[in-house]
Amino acid sequence: MSTAVAAAISDPEVESNNFLNLLIVDDDRSVREACREVARSLGFKGMVAESADHAERLLESNDVDVVLLDLKMPATGGLEVLRRIKQRRSDAEVIVVTGSASVQSAVQAMKNGAYDYVTKPFSMDEMRMLLDRVAGHLRLKTENRVLRERVKSRQAFGSIVGGAPEMEKLYRMIAKASRSNHPVLVLGESGTGKELVARSIHFSGPLRDKPFIPVDCGSLVPTLIESELFGYVKGAFTGAVQAKEGLLAMARGGTVFLDEIGEMPVDLQAKLLRAIQEKEIRPVGSTRRITIEVRILAATNRNLEQAVAQGAFRRDLYFRLNVLNLRVPSLRERRQDIPILIGHFLERLSRDCGREHRLSDDALKMLLGYDWPGNVRELENCLERACAITSNNEIRVSDLPSSITGSNGHAQLPGNGTSKIVPISELEKQAILNTIVQLNGDKLLAARLLGIGKTTLYRKLKEYQIQVV
Ligand SMILES: Nc1ncnc2c1ncn2[C@@H]1O[C@H](COP(=O)(O)OP(=O)(O)OP(=O)(O)O)[C@@H](O)[C@H]1O
Ligand SMILES: [Mg+2]
Repeated sequence: MSTAVAAAISDPEVESNNFLNLLIVDDDRSVREACREVARSLGFKGMVAESADHAERLLESNDVDVVLLDLKMPATGGLEVLRRIKQRRSDAEVIVVTGSASVQSAVQAMKNGAYDYVTKPFSMDEMRMLLDRVAGHLRLKTENRVLRERVKSRQAFGSIVGGAPEMEKLYRMIAKASRSNHPVLVLGESGTGKELVARSIHFSGPLRDKPFIPVDCGSLVPTLIESELFGYVKGAFTGAVQAKEGLLAMARGGTVFLDEIGEMPVDLQAKLLRAIQEKEIRPVGSTRRITIEVRILAATNRNLEQAVAQGAFRRDLYFRLNVLNLRVPSLRERRQDIPILIGHFLERLSRDCGREHRLSDDALKMLLGYDWPGNVRELENCLERACAITSNNEIRVSDLPSSITGSNGHAQLPGNGTSKIVPISELEKQAILNTIVQLNGDKLLAARLLGIGKTTLYRKLKEYQIQVV
């Protein structure tokens, strides 16, 4: 048979049901043609090659799902061709064809990754059944892959809601970060979803099957951060009754997420930097070093550059962590996402409490017009609270916190302003007091919502002699 005739044939007249590409490699023309007929009738696209070299050329330039390979090929042996096929297209399934005398080589071929074998002479019915089976197998393989991807993305990007251009940009950055192994610094105001982003980076990348370990540096006392991260030996300090492995060692190839990294004490920053650079840690009280394999993700709502300038954060650690940085936009910067976030949270809350919840028009208007200084977390909390206190299925304005209904983005001020003139200092005192009470004593959030620094708030509490328990 001429090369022209034996060349790749993908017949446009054949309606392909399977959309699978079959390559038939056989030096016997009648076998090639007969198999191609059967394959076509099953909806395969058939290509034929009469030699190993020809098969290789076709594999180079065509998508091939299944190869029907005669093991008794002149020049290059069939097993060698099988090896080359698998090397070039590891996911293609190969069915080997052997003479009845060489079942031994068929067994060897299966060991080398062939899907199945058929012995010559075979009937066309046999071939039909075999091809049908491999098509079913490939379909299942594809379905499984699609399913796996879907689960993967639900764990990762799937839980992040938002379609604003700023979010699209963030998704692209997450995808990029998840493919690399470098440290990533996630920046953004409080409640914007920094932890969610860190999880997405981990769960959509190659480390997804390894541990993801969050460490909140903001809520732990310095000595505890150290012993949590680096571990300790028995007797290292009072209370260390037995040795404890550090989280950096426990990650075992996974990710440690250092949340609120800006709160980490400076001496510990030096120790952390050394650990990242040398990929080694020394547990508290130990003289031995332990090798670690860990990817570091960190997040902060502080301006780290400023902290570096003020000497509160080590410059070298900052550069080390900032190899890649992702900024999570505030909700104010992506107001168009507020409605879908409301929908997302209401759906989840309705599911959780088995009761459908709606927003009245006025309540919705209020939520859409608010500034959301506490970002997505504030929106989530506000809806959670509203669902809990509403007497029926409709959330009304009266079910929303007064920080939202009072005025746009600022805590409600006392008095109606008409009954008497109130000095500014008194207004300020009341504003501070009201906000702290509404936030159940959370002074840090109060300072943020009032738009003043933490130290300023403490100074004013002292000045106005406000005692909050
Ligand atoms: N884009 C988003 N889609 C859905 N839920 C979100 C989104 N962003 C944040 N959330 C939810 O808001 C809450 C706060 O998110 P997260 O803890 O990730 O924020 P954060 O930036 O780490 O906040 P903080 O600085 O207060 O620690 C979580 O319950 C999270 O599930
Ligand atoms: Mg957080």
